[in-house]
Amino acid sequence: MIMRSHYCGELRAGLAGQTVKLCGWVNGLRDHGGVIFIDLRDREGIAQLVCNPEQAGVFAVAETVRAEYVLRAKGMLRVRPQGTANPQLATGEVEVVADELEILSAASDLPFHHGEGAGEELRLKYRYLDLRRPEMLARLRLRHRTLAAVRAFLNERGFMDVETPMLTRATPEGARDFLSPARNRPGRFYALPQSPQLFKQLLMMSGLDRYYQIARCFRDEDLRADRQPEFTQLDVEMSFVDEEEVTGLMEALAREVFAKVLGAQLPDPFPRMTYAQAMLRYASDAPDLRNPLELVELSEALREAQFKVFSAPARDPGCRVAALRIPGAADMSRRELDQLTEFVQAMGARGMAWIKAADPSRGRDGMRSPILKFLADGEISSVAERTGVAAGDLLLFGAGPAAIVNRALAALRDRLGRERNLIAPGWAPLWVTDFPAFEFDENEKRWKALHHPFTAPGVAAPRELLARPGATLSRAYDMVLNGHEIGGGSIRIHQREMQSAVFELLGLSAAEAEEKFGFFLRALEFGAPPHGGIAFGLDRWVMLMAEAESIREVIAFPKTQSGACPLTEAPAAVNARQLRELGIRAI
Ligand code: AMO
Repeated sequence: MIMRSHYCGELRAGLAGQTVKLCGWVNGLRDHGGVIFIDLRDREGIAQLVCNPEQAGVFAVAETVRAEYVLRAKGMLRVRPQGTANPQLATGEVEVVADELEILSAASDLPFHHGEGAGEELRLKYRYLDLRRPEMLARLRLRHRTLAAVRAFLNERGFMDVETPMLTRATPEGARDFLSPARNRPGRFYALPQSPQLFKQLLMMSGLDRYYQIARCFRDEDLRADRQPEFTQLDVEMSFVDEEEVTGLMEALAREVFAKVLGAQLPDPFPRMTYAQAMLRYASDAPDLRNPLELVELSEALREAQFKVFSAPARDPGCRVAALRIPGAADMSRRELDQLTEFVQAMGARGMAWIKAADPSRGRDGMRSPILKFLADGEISSVAERTGVAAGDLLLFGAGPAAIVNRALAALRDRLGRERNLIAPGWAPLWVTDFPAFEFDENEKRWKALHHPFTAPGVAAPRELLARPGATLSRAYDMVLNGHEIGGGSIRIHQREMQSAVFELLGLSAAEAEEKFGFFLRALEFGAPPHGGIAFGLDRWVMLMAEAESIREVIAFPKTQSGACPLTEAPAAVNARQLRELGIRAI
């Protein structure tokens, strides 16, 4: 005997007169003077069951039913009596008059119902209950449809899905590794992959030509709303390609997925911006282009100012002076300006100068600010001209070390864009290209790869790279969507000499390089094709598509901000015998 003929959410007036069999959870119930109505819920929606006292067996069961019980019901589907339809519900025109009702499973009092009043910790502890909510189910369904669309696109274009190991050696992506002790080799550890980077490159050397994998990656790093210790990448690699081909195909993938899953149109082609341009105009390498606010560089205009707060950084190549024009914000109160100052001070800025413009055509007399007295007329007019300040606008200034000014102005731009409702609706993807290949880490006094050490530098010979590492750009590209870095990739190094030079620059001795990456260096000696690829953070991608606040909302069983799983209580202690077997003692 089949238990179920339809999903609850499928019932429509067209089926009236049929006998249907439903299974599901009690979403709610109402006793209407002798008739009990049960809202039965399953994955697809809610159906109303009518339990009449004339059906004594059914009625007796209905009287004992409580929220979230699991029921099986059979009955005749009918159109609801005149005036009782519920337009809120897809099945609201019909109801099922039950002639059989069985409790398949009872439910204790729930820690929360329909997610109401539950904080995130509680929702995660009872994640299976949280996932019963239609919003959560819809997010998982969106994720599934996104992954399906991604696979379809890549399968059609000759990409092969290949799995790579989870128990492996460290792959450097800039985070700490999660380690797993190897019982049979005391003192040795597997590392969980931070990404499949080296394996996908090895697959290119195997001649696989086009690879993809929906791969779990593990990174032990500080967590944020868009970071998890384990997350999912769409990982892609291609042989015999350049930047144009990879980025062209990948933006076509994004366009197809958004069109299929959301019916949304992404631009064709995506805008492109160099890293230098992005920093200059938005102080960020992942700018949200829906936000119309843009920085104006003022270092040139204020080099000669008497006001040292501006002129000193304006002359220092490691510093910058820039302003953000906020249209119509000249009426901002002193208190609001103080709050913004505190906001940037928390990010390391010394302060935040501002100018309110009443009538910029009158020069100094048409503006108000404590700093005007420190600026010459020419400087004021130069600032006004470069920023295009208009009557009623507010100018906010950042001056000092470039890293701090950029952090502060980028955060101000985001905050004011949001608070003043300037963010345009829709999707704003872009490619950011021409990143510096290496950054000098002042604390550790050594060069670090900005992307990863397998990214090809934009120079032909190792000699050129070693002569000017700070000026070398990389052949990397990031895909940014609405202010989030959703993917990053590059053309790779495929010559052993260049790879060795990069390791040398990063401070690895030949012996260390051999110890850590000998297997990979060797692979480069046996015929490595030119190749390149990219990896997308699928969780971030789906988070944006779902308009969710955090990637935790689009992962079935995520970790909390502290990396714990409240449901299983992982990470957990292990018993002494397991530790002994592994040759490990906890301190
Ligand atoms: P990258 O380190 O830029 O590149 O990672 C690719 C994308 O993965 C996402 N991402 C994360 N998402 C959630 N939680 C995290 N902790 C997290 N860390 C990264 C981001 C990011 O853009 N092997 C290279 C790719 C390549 O060169 O092909 C790599 O892993 O959206």
